[in-house]
Amino acid sequence: MDKFLITGGTQVKGEVVISGAKNAALPLLAAMILAETPVTLHNVPTLKDVNTLVKLIAGTGITIEKNGDTVTCDTSTINSYYAPYELVKTMRASILVLGPLLARFGQAEVSLPGGCAIGSRPVDQHLKALEAMGATITVENGYVKAKAPLDKDGNRGRLKGCHFTFDMVTVGGTENTIMAAALAEGTTHLENCAREPEVVDLANMLVKMGAKIEGIGTAYMTIEGVDKLNGCEYSVVPDRIETGSYLALAMMTGGEVTAKKTEASLMQSVLKKFEEMGAQVTVGSDWINVKMAGRPKAVDIRTLPHPAFPTDMQAQLMTVCCIAEGTSTIIENIFENRYMHVPELQRMGANIKVDGHTAVVQGVDKLNAAPVIATDLRASMSLVMAAVAAQGETCIERIYHIDRGYEYVEDKLRGLGVTIERVKGE
Ligand code: EPZ
Repeated sequence: MDKFLITGGTQVKGEVVISGAKNAALPLLAAMILAETPVTLHNVPTLKDVNTLVKLIAGTGITIEKNGDTVTCDTSTINSYYAPYELVKTMRASILVLGPLLARFGQAEVSLPGGCAIGSRPVDQHLKALEAMGATITVENGYVKAKAPLDKDGNRGRLKGCHFTFDMVTVGGTENTIMAAALAEGTTHLENCAREPEVVDLANMLVKMGAKIEGIGTAYMTIEGVDKLNGCEYSVVPDRIETGSYLALAMMTGGEVTAKKTEASLMQSVLKKFEEMGAQVTVGSDWINVKMAGRPKAVDIRTLPHPAFPTDMQAQLMTVCCIAEGTSTIIENIFENRYMHVPELQRMGANIKVDGHTAVVQGVDKLNAAPVIATDLRASMSLVMAAVAAQGETCIERIYHIDRGYEYVEDKLRGLGVTIERVKGE
């Protein structure tokens, strides 16, 4: 397995170009299945998770190819509605093909995604919503088998519009459901929807494909089903979590970072926290600059659904808190096990105490280099941030985690003046 060698202690200064959002690209790729004519998607990041989903969609017989950051898809060649465990187990967001396959072709067989390091990641809400739309769903041998109701001639019919309220805010559950509802017979009213920018991006592309959706970006959406959806050309929204991760590097080292090809409107709660910690934040139409003079100030963080502070930035902000002046309190409300970066940060000298969902971080003057292990995607970025600030050379093992969500990560870090080397594993 590959590892990173990072020599820390320098101020991070420079510019970084932000890629398309992983968490938007994945549902947008799944939504391509709904189109009867070809779709072209731009600004798709080159990431392991994206490549896995492209492979899974190709496995259904659909013609899909990725050239650079553009993906084209033609669903006329589909010959299977099956998403195998071998692929789904490596990328749990594959469950997002369930709604589109079911809506478009009346049936789907998708492996249940496993849990992952940060939590059990159930999909009960996805299944409940599809059942509310008339789907028959069974789970057999680890596979979700879903069938739309039969029509009056006994053929695979269409899902039916319904009124459904999610038990909790779920990004993937909202995405699967709006994709299924877009082709349902009748109107679907959804309450307690996720409002993340990536959900908005998906809804906007569906509208461009001919879907009729009201309430985009709100907790209450109305989707009037249409008979078919057509292809379109669309571009993935910038990655707000990648943006926040690189900007936070400026705060770790008293430096200055400008993130380009991004949008401040996607991440107001994160930028407000940066300012609360003493950073100077300046924004433009497609760029954000963060400048940090001296040490950041301690801050309290609680992760909640958008537009509140995002769980995907929790590990990164905790790392800034590790070297802040004062004591910070962090409450992780979304996932049950998203503190696996804590023991690794403690090895580097961080003073963190975890009690259930709450972490209390006592800021220290500096972190020290140490061999550490990445445990999940955002934790791996938090360790990179700590290594960049620490005195000495840090070795981070299992960095395949970071390759899932940060495109060209070494190049972008080097562009900010970071001394980093990827050591190829056996
Ligand atoms: C998406 O995951 C993101 N992934 C996650 O990003 C992100 O952390 C998460 O949303 C929350 O913002 C993608 O978009 C590919 P949820 P998702 O359904 O959709 C519970 C990253 O680092 N829940 O909003 O799987 C669930 O257990 C990743 O980029 C149910 O109980 O998250 C969790 O506690 C990590 N039943 C909470 O809801 C369900 O049916 C939120 O999960 C669905 C979810």
